[in-house]
Amino acid sequence: MRRKIRIAPSILSADFTRLGEEVKAAEKAGGDLIHIDVMDGHFVPNITYGPLIVEACRRSCKLPLDVHLMIEKPDLYIDDFARAGADMITVHQEACVHLHRTIQQIKQAGEKLGRNILAGVSLNPATSLTTLTEILTDLDLLLIMSVNPGFGAQKFIEGSLGKISLARQLIDGSHFQVLIEVDGGVNPQTAKLLIQAGAEILVAGNSVFKSKDYKKAIKGLRG
Ligand code: DX5
Ligand code: ZN
Repeated sequence: MRRKIRIAPSILSADFTRLGEEVKAAEKAGGDLIHIDVMDGHFVPNITYGPLIVEACRRSCKLPLDVHLMIEKPDLYIDDFARAGADMITVHQEACVHLHRTIQQIKQAGEKLGRNILAGVSLNPATSLTTLTEILTDLDLLLIMSVNPGFGAQKFIEGSLGKISLARQLIDGSHFQVLIEVDGGVNPQTAKLLIQAGAEILVAGNSVFKSKDYKKAIKGLRG
């Protein structure tokens, strides 16, 4: 059975002088989610944006908002991102001392607002999947980084394909309902390999927002 592939254009590569239009264009072009990269200049060496931009995206489209927190102490900000309209909140394993508590906090943030927020955990390229063995049952989403987080337009790390295949085997062989998302260096060539390996959500910054035709670019990633 062919898995449904979802494409998540990342606004990191969008033209911020026209953010609303860019998000609307990605929606019209067939994007399934809007991926929002939050960076704090500590966990990663770059600084981007916070809940204000999530809220602006919320007002610009109807697509689910996929918020990727590349920040230290994410617990302090989860409620703010939930209130701003996040539908999925992903934290980094490497940034959370009490990951189980943080995952519960994401779910509770949704409950407080009367809606479902998916709880995700991301792994840097150097972090093993085995670090999540005890928490997999609590996760809605596993975000595997295929570049070192911090910047768009980086080269895809081939070694991440093995981790994706392993995650797919692990999840398919269990009763867990965990979506597998991949982030970094996604283009038509790498997308094919990622889909074969078992990914079902592909984040794409440069290959969508730096293209001339968003619709064609998104279609070209579906494999
Ligand atoms: C990188 C971010 C990515 C970034 C991907 O740290 O998490 O979401 O936008 O950019 P591309 O698709 O250009 O590699
Ligand atoms: Zn991201």
